[in-house]
Amino acid sequence: MRSVVVCHKMMIAVVIVLLAGSCAAYHYEVKRFTVPVDHFSFDNSDTFTIRYLVNNSYWDQKRGSIFFYTGNEGDIEMFANNSGFIWESAPDFKALIIFAEHRYYGDSLPYGNKSFSDPKYLGYLTSQQALADYVDLIQHIKSKQLSRPFNRQNPVIAFGGSYGGMLAAWIRMKYPHIVSGAIAASAPILQFPGLVPCEAFYRIVTSDFSSESKECSNTIRKSWDIIRKLSKTDEGRKWLSTNWTLCKPLQSEADADLLMSWLTDVYTNLAMLDYPYATNFLLPLPAYPIKTMCSKLYNSSLPDKPLLQMLFSGLNVYTGKEKCLNISVDASPKLGELGWDFQACTEMVMPMCSNGVTDMFDKVKWNFTSFSQSCYKKWKVYPQADLAIKTYGGKDISTASNIVFSNGLLDPWSSGGVLKNVSETAVAVLIPEGAHHLDLRGSNEADPSSVKWARRFHQRSISSWITQHYKS
Ligand SMILES: *[C@@H]1O[C@H](CO)[C@@H](O)[C@H](O)[C@H]1NC(C)=O
Ligand SMILES: *[C@@H]1O[C@H](CO)[C@@H](O)[C@H](O)[C@H]1NC(C)=O
Ligand SMILES: *[C@@H]1O[C@H](CO)[C@@H](O)[C@H](O)[C@H]1NC(C)=O
Ligand SMILES: *[C@@H]1O[C@H](CO)[C@@H](O)[C@H](O)[C@H]1NC(C)=O
Ligand SMILES: *[C@@H]1O[C@H](CO)[C@@H](O)[C@H](O)[C@H]1NC(C)=O
Ligand SMILES: *[C@@H]1O[C@H](CO)[C@@H](O)[C@H](O)[C@H]1NC(C)=O
Ligand SMILES: *[C@@H]1O[C@H](CO)[C@@H](O)[C@H](O)[C@H]1NC(C)=O
Ligand SMILES: *[C@@H]1O[C@H](CO)[C@@H](O)[C@H](O)[C@H]1NC(C)=O
Repeated sequence: MRSVVVCHKMMIAVVIVLLAGSCAAYHYEVKRFTVPVDHFSFDNSDTFTIRYLVNNSYWDQKRGSIFFYTGNEGDIEMFANNSGFIWESAPDFKALIIFAEHRYYGDSLPYGNKSFSDPKYLGYLTSQQALADYVDLIQHIKSKQLSRPFNRQNPVIAFGGSYGGMLAAWIRMKYPHIVSGAIAASAPILQFPGLVPCEAFYRIVTSDFSSESKECSNTIRKSWDIIRKLSKTDEGRKWLSTNWTLCKPLQSEADADLLMSWLTDVYTNLAMLDYPYATNFLLPLPAYPIKTMCSKLYNSSLPDKPLLQMLFSGLNVYTGKEKCLNISVDASPKLGELGWDFQACTEMVMPMCSNGVTDMFDKVKWNFTSFSQSCYKKWKVYPQADLAIKTYGGKDISTASNIVFSNGLLDPWSSGGVLKNVSETAVAVLIPEGAHHLDLRGSNEADPSSVKWARRFHQRSISSWITQHYKS
């Protein structure tokens, strides 16, 4: 068993997902809006500006609506560039398009380059503060309409994917007088302690591989012990380092832990990115990259070294033309990763574990105590395991209305998604052939019919929310 805590790489994976694919050039104005650093006390009166993107070309101020993307953990332009569904839907709804950047990400830092230096500055990085920013921004955008009765103002429809989808759902739940409905794509609002089994996430990653072939998932399942065994000797480490063309040769067993973490991330990212068409980010991926990888992993009964050589040939799908395999790539402190790590260490506690039986991963238990200790070491804060459930309701959300929770069943994050209808108008849409918020992306001729259906469902839902708004 590895000692490293399984950390969920929502952010990293999300960034990759969103950048993947040729992104059409969308046009928008970049604006800034002043918000208080702290919405909830009367003690700190500092302010800063968040960035937001606007396109008003389709907007009809009389009968149109406002499409508001509740930004998540990253540069907001990246989300705008990769949410084609919103752009494609806006003309029909005569919608104003807004993409709002989440505080502490991209270019929306409350305390500049000091923002991440101390809990004193960083403690304002919470989902509640971000939602309050969005409410202020919406009020600002509507400020000319606020004197009209509510049903004469433009209805606001929230959109978001992943953590952004959680925020879209939550802003509708918490501020129904501001937001008329929400499309919450791949939003794991149930991935919190005690709500879903911690092994579900990696079980889904595994089934993406095993449904290609059992040889494929079994090869990966067997590889962990072989890597560990080899990493115990100089000869073994040397063999692995040269045969896998590692940029930096393994020096110790701890380095092998890093390698195994890296592999875990690779398989997880491939599961999230298992799109029906070729996508292109830092790493160009073919359509259905797992199928390509698994076509190389044809015999899980091979002896140790040949098995690892075969696995390496499969990894080529992910590493592509890189000269050497850089397993420290994920460890680079990108701003977004830092912010998400802090959120995971405070309110977004998302337990994950693997057992090597229902999944193909190394055995890693979920241990809140050690997780909490590692958070304190990194950030000088302790996580509050039940804060998100207390704040947003956990599974007790039957009072929610006008939300579509969509989940691709290839997406490991569907483990924490809402997969059942929760009320008459807070409903679940399943996309069996979909990976991570495929439905928010622009249309593509390779789209499976299930995602086309989901997008039509979203549009019908939005229509009915708008009708309801103007009638009320
Ligand atoms: C988004 O697209 C615009 C225009 O195509 C481009 O200038 C910008 O660099 C892109 N930003 C990101 C973060 O992808
Ligand atoms: C809004 O987007 C459309 C389509 O990308 C573009 O033609 C138009 O110029 C944009 N408007 C603004 C104000 O950026
Ligand atoms: C932070 O920004 C200030 C002002 O722009 C600059 O002088 C300083 O060197 C920066 N500090 C770091 C650690 O980047
Ligand atoms: C990989 O391992 C095989 C079998 O041990 C060996 O014959 C081969 O030379 C190795 N390749 C490299 C590049 O080290
Ligand atoms: C798989 O490898 C084992 C061990 O080398 C060998 O006996 C078996 O024939 C191989 N199976 C296939 C289908 O290649
Ligand atoms: C590996 O990735 C890290 C982090 O991005 C980078 O600093 C380092 O230079 C890379 N090493 C090689 C050999 O490419
Ligand atoms: C959890 O981690 C703590 C701190 O590292 C350790 O003392 C404890 O034994 C672990 N619990 C289990 C069940 O492994
Ligand atoms: C939820 O209800 C809608 C009808 O409003 C239905 O189309 C959909 O299949 C239901 N979802 C699930 C997961 O049962």
